[in-house]
Parts: sequence; structure tokens; C-alpha cells
Amino acid sequence: MRIDIITVLPELLKSPFEASILKRAISAGLVEVHLHNLRDYTTDNYKSIDDTQFGGGAGMVMMIEPIDKCISQLKAARTYDEVIYMTPDGKTLNQGMANTLSLKENIIILCGHYKGVDQRVRDLLITKEISIGDYVLSGGELGAAVLCDAVIRLIPGVLGNETSALTDSFQDNLLAPPIYTKPREYKGMKVPEILFSGHFAKIEKWREDKAYEHTKERRPDLLED
Ligand code: ADE
Repeated sequence: MRIDIITVLPELLKSPFEASILKRAISAGLVEVHLHNLRDYTTDNYKSIDDTQFGGGAGMVMMIEPIDKCISQLKAARTYDEVIYMTPDGKTLNQGMANTLSLKENIIILCGHYKGVDQRVRDLLITKEISIGDYVLSGGELGAAVLCDAVIRLIPGVLGNETSALTDSFQDNLLAPPIYTKPREYKGMKVPEILFSGHFAKIEKWREDKAYEHTKERRPDLLED
């Protein structure tokens, strides 16, 4: 998979890809992440990427020209499955969307700033708009990092143990069951006995029951879907 991220703050997007699972995925050649500084696609001496709103109003608007130039150059080199715009009024990211995106070949992610982008960018160039939650961030970069993390860990081969993504919360619309490790007892709190039974089918059934209980208590909305 190849991910091209268009941003005015590439420095904000370096460290998420320099540690742990994302770093390993890149080193193993399972994903390529390319950062593009939008200012490199400007045509004026000031490297302007934004301007005031037509009709008046507070806040700057990102202009279409540099964005179109950057996306057009990328599209001239390969075909893209999605051009995603990170925005608080997009569709809220969930595990199903991450699963779907993890199967794509090439995606572009555009990070918004200020008041956002000129509507014509959204009408002409964007195929999917994604929010990471009902709150407003200063820009789309942190949202893009969250999206990339959620997607990249699902690419086949990225997680060491292939089954571990299958037991994550939200797979099958359930939250994950409780997990335990050593010590067997801590300050009087014991690990449930069933986990030492060696009876795999019973342990699996216990985990399913716990996942269901946990979901019913915390996120009953997930069970309605
Ligand atoms: N940009 C600003 N706020 C955002 C959000 N909640 N999700 C995605 N991108 C954003």
C-alpha cells in the first residue's frame, strides 16, 4: 500500500511513522508513506496556500490551486483508490472503514487547516471525507496520523501474530474481553480460574461472553448494528 499525505506541517507527521508497528511496516516494505509539503506546490513568492473568505467572515480558506497541482502530479504517476480529506464534518472513522481502507493500493490524504479548504476542492478532488471524532483539531495532521495507524496495522503481514487484529475491540462490533498476565494473584485480585483450565473451547466461550457483557455495559449501541 502507498499513502501520500498532503500537509502544510509535514514535521507534525514524521514521528508517528518512526516508531513501533508503523516503522516496522514501512521497513518491511508493506506500506510506503510519502509526505508532501503543500507550500512546494505554490506559484507565488510568498508560497501562499490560503486567503480570506469570499463574502466575509473570520478565518482563512485553503486555496484550490496548490492542492489541485499536488494531487494532479500524484495522479499522473499512478491511480489512486481514494482521495481523503480529514475534516470534522466528515464521516466518523470506525473499524469497518479502517478495514476497507487497509485493502486499498494507493490513497491520498489531504490535511485541512484554518477554516478548511475551498468547497471546490471537496466537490472536484475529494472522494471521501473522514473525521476522527466530534471535536475540532487545529488541523487534519493528527487525524491523518490516527487514520494511518488504524489502517496500517490491518495490512496483512503488519502485525506479527495475524490473529491479533481479529481479537481487537470493534472487530465483530464487540469490545475486547479482559486480558491478564503474571502474576496470577496481585493484592488479593486473582486471575479468573478458567484461564488456567487448558480447555481452549471453554476459554474462547468465556472470552466471547465477557466481550458481550463488556459491550452491553459500555457500548450498547454497537450491539444494535
Ligand atoms: N480536522 C480538524 N478536526 C478534525 C477532526 N475531528 N477529524 C479529522 N480532521 C480534523
